[in-house]
Amino acid sequence: MLPGHDLVPVTPILALFMFPVGNIVAETYLDLVEDMLKKDIDLIVRRLREKRTQVREGLEVGFVDREREARTILEGVARIRLLRGAVVLYGPKGCGKSTFFEKMTESVNEVNKGGGTYFEAIYVKRDEVESAVKAMSSGNMSEIIFDAIKSLDPSVSFEGGVVVSAALSLGRFFGRVVEALSLSRKAKDHGRILVVMDERKVESRDLRAFESELESLADSMRRANLKYYQEKRGYITAMILTSDALAARAWQRVGGKVDWLLMWNLPRGDFERLADQLGVDMDRDLLWRLTGGNPRALEDILASGLDGWLAIIIKDKVMETLEPYWDHKSRLVEAIREITESPDNLGRWRRPNEPPIAEILLRSNITIRIAGLPGPITELPKEPWIGERYAFQLPAYYYTLKAMARKEVLEVAPGDVRREALEA
Ligand SMILES: Nc1ncnc2c1ncn2[C@@H]1O[C@H](COP(=O)(O)OP(=O)(O)OP(=O)(O)O)[C@@H](O)[C@H]1O
Ligand SMILES: [Mg+2]
Repeated sequence: MLPGHDLVPVTPILALFMFPVGNIVAETYLDLVEDMLKKDIDLIVRRLREKRTQVREGLEVGFVDREREARTILEGVARIRLLRGAVVLYGPKGCGKSTFFEKMTESVNEVNKGGGTYFEAIYVKRDEVESAVKAMSSGNMSEIIFDAIKSLDPSVSFEGGVVVSAALSLGRFFGRVVEALSLSRKAKDHGRILVVMDERKVESRDLRAFESELESLADSMRRANLKYYQEKRGYITAMILTSDALAARAWQRVGGKVDWLLMWNLPRGDFERLADQLGVDMDRDLLWRLTGGNPRALEDILASGLDGWLAIIIKDKVMETLEPYWDHKSRLVEAIREITESPDNLGRWRRPNEPPIAEILLRSNITIRIAGLPGPITELPKEPWIGERYAFQLPAYYYTLKAMARKEVLEVAPGDVRREALEA
């Protein structure tokens, strides 16, 4: 029986009827649990709306929206077998994945402190500054994590509500947590546990390793959930976050064994609310056409100015990516023209005898594949830089390429890119 819920306790006899579903008593009981889960989701979302996030030292803003994402994820975690237990969530660099999952974990923790829900959220990340792996979680989960990690790393510590291990890799830490949860007798009845591992880097040389990691995660989650469901009627969802567009390629091999979710940049209204809060005094339409709602881009523009930021995009990102191939200028220009006409033409430029432009743009996280995978949790805006199957992570890349193709040179200026964006 959970604090905060006036649900009748599950009697052993009732529990016998609960699985397989198909029995009226069981359905009524599960309906009741579903009702509670819905209320829990509302409570968590309410907290999320009140969150604030630090942009940099001394500058804090209200965390904007992401309600649709929060509800989609929590509903997936709540409704057993809606998600498969193992999930990859990917999306453009800087679109707000880490912040969202951090804020959601905090929200779940706060609601649990104030009475309890069926939900538990555990967020695991590598802290580069301290070169340690850290896990944020609700109270009783921390104990399970701490004990589990202790068996692998005796120097593990518990600092300010966070479990810290300097000895383990992110992957091992995460694996141990998931395993411990499924074995733990302390996990709550009917628990819906979301365990998130942030920032799994996926480069071409470790794509195979990533694929096998997903296969074995899917297998171990299936086993873990069978056990947790049998014993406590609970369910664990393990989620891996990545910003590398190449990760989506693992889908072709691993496919439906894991679920794939795409998170996108902020929708326009929310993006403008963030710009208001940051006191950005620039043409909002141009800002949207260059950032596409990417909150990190907005912060960078605030720090370096629009043209300063564009200069970095042009030089350090697009030019650096294309320079090695500029010997084949005419084919490259032709390819860029087609790709910017419709991002879905990226599919066409993956033929063996064509310049590997699609591959280059994907590997450098300029583009990203958005279709063929189950679903975006953010509503994708209808814009020229977003196709049905492929999209540019930032429209600034798209307009930079357009300017390069128009002038048939690599060295374009911020003004050229602004002009392309405004003409569109
Ligand atoms: N919903 C939001 N409201 C306000 N600010 C946000 C929001 N989402 C993200 N940000 C800000 O945008 C910046 C980038 O976000 P974040 O680091 O979470 O993105 P990410 O997708 O994890 O990036 P990466 O791909 O590099 O891992 C952060 O500084 C964060 O404060
Ligand atoms: Mg991140």
